[in-house]
Amino acid sequence: MCGIVGYVGKNDNAIKTIINSLEALEYRGYDSAGIAYINDNHINIVKRQGRIENLKKDLNLDINSNLGIGHTRWATHGVPNEINAHPHKCGKITIVHNGIIENYSELKTMLIDNGYAFSSDTDTEVACATIDYLYKKYNNMLKALQKSIKILKGSYALGILCDDNLDTLYAVRVSSPLIVAVKDNGKFIASDVPAILSYTNEYYLLDDGDIVVLKDNSINFYNKELESITRNSFIFEGDLEEVKKDGYEHFMLKEINEEPRVIKDTISYYFDGTKASLMKNIPDLNKYKDIHIVACGSAYHTGLVAKTLIEEIANIPVMVEIASEYRYKKVFYNEATLVILVSQSGETADTLASLRKAKEDGIDTLGIVNAVGSSIAREADNTLYIKAGCEIAVATTKAYSAQLALLSLLALKLALINNKISDEEFNNLKMQINKLPEMIKELIKSEKYRKIANKIYTREDIFYLGRKIDYAMSMEGSLKLKEISYINCVAYAAGELKHGTISLIEQDTPIIAVITDKDIKAKTISNLKETKARGANVILITNEVEKDNYYDEIISIPNIHPLIQPIVTIVPLQLLAYEIAKLKGCDIDKPRNLAKSVTVE
Ligand code: AGP
Repeated sequence: MCGIVGYVGKNDNAIKTIINSLEALEYRGYDSAGIAYINDNHINIVKRQGRIENLKKDLNLDINSNLGIGHTRWATHGVPNEINAHPHKCGKITIVHNGIIENYSELKTMLIDNGYAFSSDTDTEVACATIDYLYKKYNNMLKALQKSIKILKGSYALGILCDDNLDTLYAVRVSSPLIVAVKDNGKFIASDVPAILSYTNEYYLLDDGDIVVLKDNSINFYNKELESITRNSFIFEGDLEEVKKDGYEHFMLKEINEEPRVIKDTISYYFDGTKASLMKNIPDLNKYKDIHIVACGSAYHTGLVAKTLIEEIANIPVMVEIASEYRYKKVFYNEATLVILVSQSGETADTLASLRKAKEDGIDTLGIVNAVGSSIAREADNTLYIKAGCEIAVATTKAYSAQLALLSLLALKLALINNKISDEEFNNLKMQINKLPEMIKELIKSEKYRKIANKIYTREDIFYLGRKIDYAMSMEGSLKLKEISYINCVAYAAGELKHGTISLIEQDTPIIAVITDKDIKAKTISNLKETKARGANVILITNEVEKDNYYDEIISIPNIHPLIQPIVTIVPLQLLAYEIAKLKGCDIDKPRNLAKSVTVE
């Protein structure tokens, strides 16, 4: 996600106002920043890579201006550099954008055919040229914006300036958040409330398709039929930090609640429901006969999940290795091997070193990365970006889930090119993929996590159990709890318990068990009965309807295709960890000793 602001006022301190508002939105993204302001009857644009501080160094904040737009970026298309930074200008139109234009590629082709040239790799520049193209066609900004809403697909909050109307700030909202605020001597647009709190706590929420026209002495709201409308105003009560969390108590909870949109954004970016979209948007995998997945921490756990999916569904052998081991060990690979590096930050030292080792040995590499333009993204032969946006909480949730989603698409493509999935199964899977956001929303709503957490948060030992893919899920559940609650919990392969660790089970020891693989369910159930016989308190997360009494608590999850089952299975595991840590009063977003990106060995 990015942060956009716009300001028009009676006084001439627009530059200072915009920069001040942008700084309050830096938590939304900070890999580059820029501003466009009106001065001397001209739109001036200054933009820099890096944080807003870099922009301020090259900006004279005292220049007189009463109108402008600003942007702080979390790159989704195009590396974080000055060329890709916003604002973008095409013809007479200058814009800042938060969101993703899903059809930017076909629009770019149409615009090039109509004489447009592009300097950046961004979808935003395409949106800007689209508006300019329509403005030239209709010679009317409102009409151009109305038509733009019909043509641009995806999510976008836009702040817009037009060379022909240098007293006017335009704004458009479709899916991405955008607010409008009015203060006696100025009017604002912004991605989020923090941007305006230094000036006012009253703001208007826009609906999808709203177009707003702001001048220093007027403000007009229009719907997509260009009918004049009114919008209710809201008063924000709360502190700045709370607003950045959208009212959630922690960034981690906010980011879990973003998973429905993040999963939709990540999947829809590569898969429109057709096999052709996977063939086009995911690199050719035909030549690979074995796959190595290399990562650290939670990213490593996504590799373990992908291993089961790819091996069982696409029938291709997968080796998953912790990067700090892989980089030093003797590795057997050849020209038919693909090394996949999974990394949210794209800067994890051990994962980057493993990438460089594979490349030195002439092995093909693929990055699965969140941070656009990061080292791993730049150095891998190919990179597929998850669309998780900026993840603030150190313990990853939405990025982990988005990595699962992208790896599921990779497994699906491998299954298709190896003829391992029937048309009927593919169509059933496609329907379930469309329902994933709703399924996740329903799981998030459950009160069960808090009830269960209340019963076990004081325990010193908690065990996670599962077999095969459920073991991989248990490992991530266990890491999440360790990271944020400091409880020494461990994930075990369910069948391994009786080879020693069952000695640790005593009365009321919590066992969090995951059963989603029906082929292995009976075995895990007998393991759980062994723990129950020794007094364990079994909490079962399952997609099967259970009638037995081998568990004390049950959290039911949807029973869906194995390729996408992990994306819903992880939600209870993340929220159980969150509720336990909250009861323990831990610093959930910034756990002790941890860093969001481990850029050292
Ligand atoms: C995730 O909750 C952890 N903070 C950590 O294990 C993380 O997954 C690991 O450091 C890898 O980070 P990366 O995805 O940025 O490479």
